[in-house]
Amino acid sequence: ASAGLFFAGKPRQAEWTSGWSAQTALTFPKDFYFGTATAAQQIESQSPSDWTAFELDAIAKGRTEHGSAPGVAKPGHIAELDKYSLDVRTRKTDYDRRYDEDFAAAKQVLGNNAYRFSFEWARLFPREDMQQPDPEAVAFYQGVLDSLERHELTPFATLFHFSSPAWLWQEKDGKRGWERADAQALWQRYVDAVLSLYGSRIKHWTTLNEPMVFLNAGYLDGVFPPLETRADPAAAGPALAAMARAHAYAYHAIKKVVGQDSQVGITQHTRAFEPWRNWNPLDRFAARQIDEIFIWDLLDALETGELQLTGTGFSEQIDGLAGTQDYVGINYYGRFYIEVSLANPVKPIVHSHDPEADQWVNDLGWAIYPKGFGDVLRTAYERYNKPIYVLENGTADKAANDLRRQYLLISHLAEMAHAQQQGVPLKGYFHWSLTDNFEWAEGFTARFGLFAVDYADDYRRTARPSAPLFGRIAREGLSP
Ligand code: NOJ
Repeated sequence: ASAGLFFAGKPRQAEWTSGWSAQTALTFPKDFYFGTATAAQQIESQSPSDWTAFELDAIAKGRTEHGSAPGVAKPGHIAELDKYSLDVRTRKTDYDRRYDEDFAAAKQVLGNNAYRFSFEWARLFPREDMQQPDPEAVAFYQGVLDSLERHELTPFATLFHFSSPAWLWQEKDGKRGWERADAQALWQRYVDAVLSLYGSRIKHWTTLNEPMVFLNAGYLDGVFPPLETRADPAAAGPALAAMARAHAYAYHAIKKVVGQDSQVGITQHTRAFEPWRNWNPLDRFAARQIDEIFIWDLLDALETGELQLTGTGFSEQIDGLAGTQDYVGINYYGRFYIEVSLANPVKPIVHSHDPEADQWVNDLGWAIYPKGFGDVLRTAYERYNKPIYVLENGTADKAANDLRRQYLLISHLAEMAHAQQQGVPLKGYFHWSLTDNFEWAEGFTARFGLFAVDYADDYRRTARPSAPLFGRIAREGLSP
């Protein structure tokens, strides 16, 4: 080939699927879990968490030209949040008053038999000096669990889903949040309370949701609280190690209180990481390295107890961590292209889609890429030989016909059916999300719901076309 051809050709992955076809039937075992996933800060009325503080700060300062200091909201942070009323900002999706209606729809329209949600640490422990959880918060989650039971939805609970009490982020001995020396004791008080209150009603637990996203966005990119922009990725190591210790504690506590038959793990945010320029060895190397760091290093550590961050020099042995994953929890959101630039070789550029290669792109610019999903599921099984739960998969599509969400549902469930035929032990699929909600730094603009929420009209819910489609697949499958 001529040099011209060599440099012009990116050639990108041409295949969209990893081998399924129109003949692949979307059928799943009888005991398979179909559900949706949510998180407290994104749907519940506001608790005094670090995120709530950030949202208020972003509204106060978001329109002005200051805030480049770490820990301060920058202009444009949480896009368009200030367009929504105070009522919406404090009530989010009005879930506190409507969860029963939402669960009824999950049962009736979506045909679901499970539901994933998170407990809000800041709701149960709004103040640091509390020895016992707040009684109103206790009753709220009891109501949620009662309602799930009535609608025959098996609860899957998450203990940490990005938000935590604002008081944990007060500096103590020069440290904040997970890095505080007393963070473990405070976490243990929260975990013990949740287990003694609800442990007998919940078998499936996720201790940490997407810790690598939390660390990357909070400590390196500075777009999530604590809004830090540390230059060296290894600088996120101590916070990660603290979270791994928190996971280990929760794992053993759940085994003790809930029983040996409980299912405990974490979720990892996964993407297909691919080189931006296929011919460029630096892009290829960086894509592989990011794949290791972002997806597999921590999951490896749950098996071995040895936490190592590929290529950063960070490594720590964590007591009680070895053997603490009963299942592999996968969240999958598409593909990222990695480009190493000469301007800043240590921080590669991440492209969320390629206009030349990706036809299906969501409202946030993320490529919809089913093949990467099947690949991640197979790799997870090859590496750990454990059951796999897909605890999140979904897309931001606000179009009334939500064609991209329908395409995502069918193509990703086809990837699962195909992987299952190859012997990958898949136990459940949770769509993100039940309703539209608060999408973190993107605010309310990104619409991930199977049900649309009309924030201007009393939070009215409307099923998008993908909702009955999901219901049909969950109930009877889809045959060619
Ligand atoms: C993963 C996160 O766990 C969830 O909170 C978020 O809303 C979705 N991805 C969509 O970005």
